[in-house]
Amino acid sequence: GLAATGAEAQTAYPTRPITVVVPFAAGGPTDTVARLIAESMSKTLGQQVLVENVGGAGGTRGAGQVAKAAPDGYTLLIHHIGQATAATLYRKLPYNVLTDFETAGLITPVPMTIIGKSNLEPKTVGDLITYIKANKEKVTYGNAGVGSASHLCGMLFMSKVGAQMTTVPYQGTAPAMNDLIGGQIDLMCDQTTNTTGQIKGGKVKAYAVTTSGRVKSLGDLPTLQESGMKDFEVTIWHGMYAPKGTPKDIMDKLNAALNTALEDPKVIARFADLGTEPETKDRRSQAFHKQFLADEVAKWKPIIQAAGVYAD
Ligand code: MLT
Repeated sequence: GLAATGAEAQTAYPTRPITVVVPFAAGGPTDTVARLIAESMSKTLGQQVLVENVGGAGGTRGAGQVAKAAPDGYTLLIHHIGQATAATLYRKLPYNVLTDFETAGLITPVPMTIIGKSNLEPKTVGDLITYIKANKEKVTYGNAGVGSASHLCGMLFMSKVGAQMTTVPYQGTAPAMNDLIGGQIDLMCDQTTNTTGQIKGGKVKAYAVTTSGRVKSLGDLPTLQESGMKDFEVTIWHGMYAPKGTPKDIMDKLNAALNTALEDPKVIARFADLGTEPETKDRRSQAFHKQFLADEVAKWKPIIQAAGVYAD
């Protein structure tokens, strides 16, 4: 009741539904990961874990909302690599990626795929590069805004190709995928959690995966490295966050429930269908996530600075 002491109130957590903010549109790759995890965590925690999609500004709008939420364990964030790249991409980010969040743990590393509309002419990565060099800005590239995974991949891909395409930003790659299937845009680089079904269903043309090794569930697709793009390696890691100052016992409960979700056979099977797997056990602690986030901010900073891409 209202008279409960702090200690009692903490032990009881959670006593009401928890909201997990996904900083991209519903039905996309981050949403897919978050809903799988939320469903399992709901069972473990005995309270509903609800997903709320807060898209916009390449994921920084949703992340900023969580940074400023009450640190009580009832507002969380599931975000990907964009949590780290935004620190450099945005000159005026209204929150600090490293100091405004508690890290609950890493979730899953997801490969990306270079995909085109089904009737796009080029057949191979080599053909595609020739086509982009010849058509440049006439080629349209959909992404989820500056700070998104699809933005990062596109930035690296265009720098390797040596030609700029016209970027078309969306609130997430779910709406971008609709336009790719509809033929309104030409190309995307998007996570296998969003593209596997469309590739297998023949709705889009797949060129390559962005990881250094092939993806088991998409075994026919070459890697960009095999296709001649040396050093190309992008894997999209995901993590769960709470606002800074969320009590330690709540963070420990969240990390434990997240770990339980990552052992859930249903989650593991769905991840495998989608070309991914849970993070390995040695990478699932709060401390590992905190250090990894800092390392990723440092890793991407010079790459982004060299590319010279910024948002305000
Ligand atoms: C999404 O959920 O829409 C994606 O993660 C977007 C992206 O970062 O490319």
